[in-house]
Amino acid sequence: MNPVTDKSKDETPSQLRCIGCGATTDHVDQDFRCQSCGDLFEIVYPGWSQAASAQATLLDPTLLKQAWLHRKSSFLPGDTSGVWRFREMLPSLKIGNEPITLREGNTPLYDLPGCALAAGVNALLAKHQGMNPTASFKDTGMTVAASFARQEGFRWVACASTGNTSASMAAYAARGGMRSLVLIPEGKISWGKLSQSLDYGAVTCQLRADFDGCVKVLTQVVKRMPVYLLNSVNPYRLEGQKTAAIELLEQLGWETPDHIIVPGGNLGNSSALGKALLEMKELGFIARLPKLSVIQAEGANPFVRSIREHGGKTLTPVEADTFATAIRIGNPASWKKALRVVEATAGTVEQVSELEIALAKAEIGADGVGCEPASAVTLAGLKKLVRQGFVKPGECIVLILTGHGLKDPEFTLKFHRGDLFEGTKCEADAKKLASQQRAPIVLDASVSEVIRTLKQFDRPASDR
Ligand code: F0G
Repeated sequence: MNPVTDKSKDETPSQLRCIGCGATTDHVDQDFRCQSCGDLFEIVYPGWSQAASAQATLLDPTLLKQAWLHRKSSFLPGDTSGVWRFREMLPSLKIGNEPITLREGNTPLYDLPGCALAAGVNALLAKHQGMNPTASFKDTGMTVAASFARQEGFRWVACASTGNTSASMAAYAARGGMRSLVLIPEGKISWGKLSQSLDYGAVTCQLRADFDGCVKVLTQVVKRMPVYLLNSVNPYRLEGQKTAAIELLEQLGWETPDHIIVPGGNLGNSSALGKALLEMKELGFIARLPKLSVIQAEGANPFVRSIREHGGKTLTPVEADTFATAIRIGNPASWKKALRVVEATAGTVEQVSELEIALAKAEIGADGVGCEPASAVTLAGLKKLVRQGFVKPGECIVLILTGHGLKDPEFTLKFHRGDLFEGTKCEADAKKLASQQRAPIVLDASVSEVIRTLKQFDRPASDR
């Protein structure tokens, strides 16, 4: 039996439902927008709510929790993937279609003692989604959406990206025997991410535009060419990304944390994690919901402003600018979905400055974990939420670290050398970060020089 498509044929399949007008369909246009109202689709599982359906009887939480754990000791591709392991929560591929998998998911949950101290909380956990095959959370969504692209018979897949989606898409397209087209903003993504999409064989176009400009162009391209869109407006992406929250709950022994804190860019990931939490609660896997909060960079804060200035009724796009290039996004596609889950879980939003991001990134590095700048907004945001009293020191808090520390080594090197903020308006204030900077030390090849340096650093920083 196929390990991923082993559900019975008469089960109630998944459906696409428009989040604006509620229209349901089995098939959508290539831009993944509702023909009637232009809004986005989400995937729903009508069978879950029909108690007598074949699907509902497969959803016993006690049995499924055991089955998911049991699959961890299996070697079948559908079980070794930390996404397809939770396949009962995902749309199923047709019989005979294998998923494209790189063994994504299965990411670690670390404790961050130094960061906990810095944030003024008793303990702090981080689910590190940078520990995925292409080193970001995107892989968990890409395994699902790329598999559906291949099932639909597409030869080409495409995305606009700030670098991680493109790296992930290029890898999964290559593994699935498809070609990939990448549109990225010229000069505004990290070299690490750009090099990945080149290596995985994507046709990589650097447009003279920002991310939002790349999205505009691609939206027109997919309407004219037989190209499958793999941005997070594609609801199959979000279904895969959802599994990180399920895996997190499993790692916590199905005890609900009090807070989950996520970076916000295009707002697909927060929407996906929130969707999982709401579904897990509805299906009886957990008794209560954690608060899901979204943190943006001050320079790319349209969601924070939408909520603070317009009560979440409208979102006015901004011209985005931040060194955390992954979240340099001014017009987030999934803002309505994210709003819904922040409200449903009683979470909040916050914004953080460039200096706060850089400091938090160094603190996460100093705990031996590391992450890319966009992920560090979570710790920077947590500090603010603790100061505001929204997060209490004794609560169970999980940061979602979205990308690996090696994604953007240029940022890290510049920070430690002390020239990251050179020529910016933060230059003077950046001097305050000196105690966190650990620049490389150039020495002659001399034993005594090295020993002298070792002794110097063996003293407390205040005596050096
Ligand atoms: N963190 C990292 C490392 C990212 O790459 C992204 C988004 C986010 C956070 C924000 O997630 O968009 O779902 O709110 N990167 C996309 C890309 C936009 O193209 O790689 P989001």
